Amino acid sequence: MALLRCGLRARGLLSALRNNAACMSSIPQPITNPEIKYNKVFVNNEFIDSQSGKTFPTVNPSTGEVICQVAEGDKKDVDVAVKAAQEAFRLGSPWRRMDAAGRGYLLNRLADLIERDRAYITSLETLDNGKPYHVAYNADLRLVIQCYRYYAGWADKIEGKTVPVAGDFFAYTRREPVGVCGQIIPWNFPLLMQAWKLGPALACGNTVVMKVAEQTPLTALYIAHLAREAGFPPGVINIIPGYGPTAGGAIASHMDVDKLAFTGSTEVGHIVAQAAAQSNLKRVTLELGGKSPNIVMADANMEQAVEMSHFALYFNQGQCCCAGSRTFVEEKVYDEFVERSAARAKKRTVGDPFNASNEQGPQVDKEQADKIMSYIESGKDQGAKLVAGGNRAGEKGFYIEPTVFADVKDEMKIAQEEIFGPVQSIMKFKSMDELIERCHKTIYGLAAAVHTNDLEKALHVANTVRAGTVWVNCFDVFDAGMPFGGYKMSGTGRELGEYGLEAYSEVKSVSCHISDIKISIKLLDGKLELWIFLDKLQ
Ligand code: NAI
Ligand code: MG
Repeated sequence: MALLRCGLRARGLLSALRNNAACMSSIPQPITNPEIKYNKVFVNNEFIDSQSGKTFPTVNPSTGEVICQVAEGDKKDVDVAVKAAQEAFRLGSPWRRMDAAGRGYLLNRLADLIERDRAYITSLETLDNGKPYHVAYNADLRLVIQCYRYYAGWADKIEGKTVPVAGDFFAYTRREPVGVCGQIIPWNFPLLMQAWKLGPALACGNTVVMKVAEQTPLTALYIAHLAREAGFPPGVINIIPGYGPTAGGAIASHMDVDKLAFTGSTEVGHIVAQAAAQSNLKRVTLELGGKSPNIVMADANMEQAVEMSHFALYFNQGQCCCAGSRTFVEEKVYDEFVERSAARAKKRTVGDPFNASNEQGPQVDKEQADKIMSYIESGKDQGAKLVAGGNRAGEKGFYIEPTVFADVKDEMKIAQEEIFGPVQSIMKFKSMDELIERCHKTIYGLAAAVHTNDLEKALHVANTVRAGTVWVNCFDVFDAGMPFGGYKMSGTGRELGEYGLEAYSEVKSVSCHISDIKISIKLLDGKLELWIFLDKLQ
């Protein structure tokens, strides 16, 4: 792939985007008006109307206009999909009888098809979500393809162990699929969140009922079509577009869903965890919100630290669970950092996400844009100093100016709550002693970053901060092999990597009683008995 040749790994997504200029010629032109091919519920490898016949609109955030109507799945559709997923999981079904390597082959085939249609899929994502096409082509799609391939590789390597137990037993463990997995995903990375959920679930041999976000249902449905083309048997993957409390709620409380994986707000994380507990105690993994500290030490390379901190916050219009949304800067360099960050934010290009010169597109919908504006108001009201942006941008659509607040205090709402938008909050710290404690002053613990040339400081932060991921002199470095998830109210469990398989497999212990074996061999003039004593040292 031309993209991979561009050496994207050095500093993760940022270097991917920096290399954009070099790669740009190899990125195919976007399809600015992509045809909408699939807008219905996907069950048993068929696209069908919702049981109620209802539909809902999905909106283009660059214009506020309706793209199309989409079938609105709810409890009845979830029931039908769960039945299909159960049938696909039935003992002796094509999916259950498939070799583990066969599952890997199908996942690889899906990745091939995504590569084939990469420009169309990216265009559809840009239309429905508003993320810049050139960014999504490089970042989102690269990680999506990598994720499916990574888990394709795992499918026939999910192994048990033999265990040297006491007594006359042969004991071993098996890793078995959990069963029907309910998966609820958000709108900020529709394709990527789908890949993070489908990849490990399918590699382990589960079947899936996935509810996609109501703001961005289109690309997930196209992927469902590709999964069918790849050859996944009917009922293995089922996709329900629809709203949270109805379709999502039905999955979370379903008695025949064996496992629930949710990504979204901490608020809804509480709701789905309760529903899972109150129904059938289904296994639950949660990837929730964050308020991640991004720490800049005085000794850091200033230019790099400013750019990296800018990227840490504004990437994906600020709509990242792991956004570096609390920028802590050491007192000695604070003023310079604020000045440079404000200048960088003012330079950030905002506009039509199909235009490659724009770094930032619109927020996903009006509700999110309004919420972000109310946080900007609260920052002003609570005395933070607005040094860049602060307004809506553009005449239509849900654009917001890259906004920077300085003099932000720990207790302010903008330092405590997830804004999920292009609003950078810069705070000052004096010493390492106060720093870690201040980092912990939120309910979250998803990620953290530190920018420094001092190895001791870097390791001190990396080893002490309560966060699932720490980046040193970089940010948003994602790889399918590295686990991701949160401490505290940022969630439970890990996605990606080998750890990501744990949530999608049950461990079974099997103990077989074995007696010493007696073998009799008849000889011409009598009988010879041969005893074999089993060696306990397995
Ligand atoms: P949300 O948590 O409501 O939505 C995420 C998913 O959960 C969507 O598919 C939604 O339909 C579903 N959902 C909503 N209510 C549900 C319920 N009662 N039962 C089952 N499923 C339900 O997030 P929303 O409202 O879109 O955004 C609100 C805030 O949440 C954002 O401003 C942001 O702070 C945070 N958020 C965090 C994300 C992350 O990646 N951690 C992703 C999206 C939002
Ligand atoms: Mg919601």
